[in-house]
Amino acid sequence: MDIGAQEHVASRGTVGILGAGRVGTAIARLAIAAGYLVKVATSKPAADNELIIEIVTPGAVAVDAAEAAASDLVVVAIPLHRYKTLDAGALSGRVVIDAMNYWAATDGDIADFENTNLSSSEVVSAYLDGSRVVKSFNHIGYHEMEPDAAEPGTPDRRALAIAGDDDLAKELVAGFIDTLGFDSVDAGELAAGNSFEPGTDIFNGRFNAAELANALQRSLAAA
Ligand SMILES: NC(=O)c1ccc[n+]([C@@H]2O[C@H](COP(=O)([O-])OP(=O)(O)OC[C@H]3O[C@@H](n4cnc5c(N)ncnc54)[C@H](OP(=O)(O)O)[C@@H]3O)[C@@H](O)[C@H]2O)c1
Repeated sequence: MDIGAQEHVASRGTVGILGAGRVGTAIARLAIAAGYLVKVATSKPAADNELIIEIVTPGAVAVDAAEAAASDLVVVAIPLHRYKTLDAGALSGRVVIDAMNYWAATDGDIADFENTNLSSSEVVSAYLDGSRVVKSFNHIGYHEMEPDAAEPGTPDRRALAIAGDDDLAKELVAGFIDTLGFDSVDAGELAAGNSFEPGTDIFNGRFNAAELANALQRSLAAA
């Protein structure tokens, strides 16, 4: 790596990714391409993941979950039924992107998400007490992330919704999303995350920023 490239990485900061599955690795590759220093972890020790990370996300570093959690920005991309295996203490104070969805078909019926009007990210946020949780990346398929990424200003650029209770955290996440190749539209507080959960029009579609803003407005008006 030349010095210019190192400065580029330093200027972007570190992104920790919890989950080295379909979503975690797609976001990792986009973040590496955008110039972030990317640290990927699973629930297993870093050494167990080194080879696969080198192959699937070249340029990323395999780390333990605690090290990934200490990044400037943390993406959580694990099966939602595993959310209580996250270390809430390690993530306290961190800006955390919740990319997870509740799918009873794969997660099983989980009372935490079934018997509530809360959005799934509010439930996660209550567990990650102290984290600055922003919901996003959940309504784009892992296989669409790299093909749909585009430079800022590209006509019809795909947009991702963000929801969260912390405006500064949302600003940081919007910047991250932009550098990865997408516009973002602020849906509002974390409670508004339910307007782009599985089963919604937004979850099932592909939108540019103007279309997504309209779809969010329709969804909030209907709520
Ligand atoms: N598939 C999609 O297109 C898509 C799109 C958007 C959002 N989502 C959502 O994103 C989440 C992940 O989906 P996926 O398809 O990427 O899942 P996946 O391919 O099954 O990968 C899950 C990853 O999470 C890791 N993991 C589990 N518990 C962990 C923990 N406590 N800390 C760190 N890593 C942990 C697993 O590794 P170990 O078990 O070895 O720890 C595995 O690497 C789900 O909630 C899903 O609904 C999926």
